[in-house]
Amino acid sequence: MEDRIGRQLGNYKILRLVGQGGFADVYLGEHIHLRTQAAIKVLQVRLGENNIQDFLNEARTIAHLVHPYIIRVLDFGVQDNTPFLVMDYAPHGTFRQRFLQGKPLPAAPLVPYMKQTAAALQYGHDKKLIHRDVKPENMLLGHNDEVLLGDFGLALISYNSTSRSPTETAGTAAYMSPEQLQGKPRPASDQYALGMIAYEWLTGSCPFQGSFFEIASQQVLTPPPPIRDKAPQTPLEIEKVVLRALEKDPQKRFPNVREFSLALEDACLASKQFSFDLVPQPASNESVSDDTSIHARSRHTEASGETSSGTCRNRNPASNRTRAGSGSYIAT
Ligand SMILES: Nc1ncnc2c1ncn2[C@@H]1O[C@H](COP(=O)(O)OP(=O)(O)OP(=O)(O)O)[C@@H](O)[C@H]1O
Ligand SMILES: [Mg+2]
Repeated sequence: MEDRIGRQLGNYKILRLVGQGGFADVYLGEHIHLRTQAAIKVLQVRLGENNIQDFLNEARTIAHLVHPYIIRVLDFGVQDNTPFLVMDYAPHGTFRQRFLQGKPLPAAPLVPYMKQTAAALQYGHDKKLIHRDVKPENMLLGHNDEVLLGDFGLALISYNSTSRSPTETAGTAAYMSPEQLQGKPRPASDQYALGMIAYEWLTGSCPFQGSFFEIASQQVLTPPPPIRDKAPQTPLEIEKVVLRALEKDPQKRFPNVREFSLALEDACLASKQFSFDLVPQPASNESVSDDTSIHARSRHTEASGETSSGTCRNRNPASNRTRAGSGSYIAT
């Protein structure tokens, strides 16, 4: 890996490495004039002249996504043929690091995170953008523990700017819908991925394990085992909602991702799985049109806590990565 520490990229001085993914290195940077900090994502690719304009166009689209639960893209550019994006720095790690450590978790505290992520996705879907890489590593946490969804639309950029084969390229099969694996991602594919995250939260593990191709074929062919087999305390209503988001046929899922998150909330309320003091609030009070806090909805009342059962950590991340983009890798 190229040592970029101390060097300048655009108007930012690179301070330190924050994390690495399959396609990019993420650094903490400081603006040379403003002295503000930001995360700088440097894609591990060198663009040819033909691809630079495509990258800039895609990045511009992403930079127009402004929402309280989406990581804001502040700037982007190409330096020495290497593309980079400057984004808000999320100081509190990822949803994976915070919560998904292989243990089953109670349903109630999941609801605000699901509602926030769903609100972010719905905002993108309303603008005809599909995330394509919804996973716990892309759900960062803000100052008030609110979700900041990262990499919106980036799967497409990295797909377009590389010419690697599927097994060399990005995305994680564990959260990918059958239709996305077949090269036909749609908004319901993001709902499926969010459903997988809910499944992992409740049971402590993803339903499908193995190499990329083993997981991919199960995504297409095998129904997920019932949540209550792994986590018997999970109320039936909650299981039903999550399994509907995981339907193989996108038409059988909820009409949109917001409906999924509201159904999950309703199921929690109906089964008295709520705890009202577990609600992270957004960092700022920008108008969040679709309220994402539990407090704001009063269709039901009551609350309490609960338990269920284990993580969908990729036991072998290298073996189950592939492009979340538009290619088709699974024959039907
Ligand atoms: N804006 C950010 N603020 C703080 N940390 C970040 C930010 N973006 C990414 N990170 C950290 O850097 C790591 C690498 O991010 P990156 O998006 O390159 O890979 P990934 O999402 O983990 O996987 P993939 O390669 O499939 O995209 C993340 O897991 C996260 O820990
Ligand atoms: Mg990421």
